[in-house]
Amino acid sequence: MHAIVIDKPGGPEALSWQQVPDPRPGPGEVLIDVAASAVNRADVMQRQGRYDPPPGASPYPGLECSGVVAEAGPDVEGFRPGDRVCALLSGGGYAEKVAVPWQQVMRVPDGVDLVEAAALPEVACTVWSNVFMTARLRRGETLLVHGGASGIGTLAVQLAKAFGSRVAVTAGTDEKIARCLELGADEGVNYREEDFSERIQADVILDIIGGKYLPANVRALRTGGRLVVIGMQGGSKGELNLGALLAKRASVHGTTLRARPVDEKGAIVRGVVENVWPLVDAGVIRPVIHARVPMSEAAEAHRLIETGEHVGKILLVG
Ligand SMILES: NC(=O)c1ccc[n+]([C@@H]2O[C@H](COP(=O)([O-])OP(=O)(O)OC[C@H]3O[C@@H](n4cnc5c(N)ncnc54)[C@H](OP(=O)(O)O)[C@@H]3O)[C@@H](O)[C@H]2O)c1
Repeated sequence: MHAIVIDKPGGPEALSWQQVPDPRPGPGEVLIDVAASAVNRADVMQRQGRYDPPPGASPYPGLECSGVVAEAGPDVEGFRPGDRVCALLSGGGYAEKVAVPWQQVMRVPDGVDLVEAAALPEVACTVWSNVFMTARLRRGETLLVHGGASGIGTLAVQLAKAFGSRVAVTAGTDEKIARCLELGADEGVNYREEDFSERIQADVILDIIGGKYLPANVRALRTGGRLVVIGMQGGSKGELNLGALLAKRASVHGTTLRARPVDEKGAIVRGVVENVWPLVDAGVIRPVIHARVPMSEAAEAHRLIETGEHVGKILLVG
């Protein structure tokens, strides 16, 4: 098969489409003929040599894919050759084939075509696990989503609105804020012009900035608030005002998805299929797709994500 290989960490040109050995499905694994994958920030960091795949994961980038089951290894439950699926991966999505534990495989929701389905696994699993399983966002509460126009943000806005929450976002341009309002957000702050903590008070904050935003995030939390940090685009260290945290009886969580064991990923995937897919089936939630790029030209897709101009996801079509 062909896959995108990173021979040496570097810029987008480090990504090249090469012939590599086919993966074989092991016990409990499904082999997928990949129709599409999608670009995540983590792939950019992997390409730069700043985010190595966890032990045992494919060396090729790609944390999600859609496609058709080609083969099911021993002990696979619920999937057979010919099934149209999408999957949460630990790596290897930028390829013509990938092997993945069956627990991380999902049916393609209704109303979404096979290629579009590649835009959903990583964002749906990240938002469901952090906002709903960890922070337990409730109906009527306010969610603040930093980077509302990101891949993660565009799904977080739609899902929290569908579950009856109020949603505020931050973004770096008024155009991006306008797109978030179209997706259902109630309020947006252009972080280049305003300090969000002076206007927003939230019960749950989904944060992709990390260190730089820690003091303002704690200021923006309501009593009983939950801050979930999933990205460190603004550094890994910041000052935490414990006095403010205690007074608000608030909590700070940090999580990653990629390195979790298969059974934890499986529990998240089941939660997504049960709670998120019916909303996609009904057309209440739609994947937001900025561009479709041929997988062999993944370098172009990485250049695009690094401009920061995109809204939603960039697909890599096989
Ligand atoms: N921990 C996990 O399990 C997990 C899983 C998936 C993703 N993530 C993280 O989630 C983040 C988003 O991932 P993605 O793939 O959706 O990336 P993406 O689409 O490239 O989005 C990155 C976003 O960051 C925004 N941004 C940059 N500086 C900002 C600031 N100071 N305040 C608010 N927004 C800012 C950019 O928008 P502007 O133009 O508006 O600045 C852009 O929309 C990444 O940091 C990624 O590593 C974590």
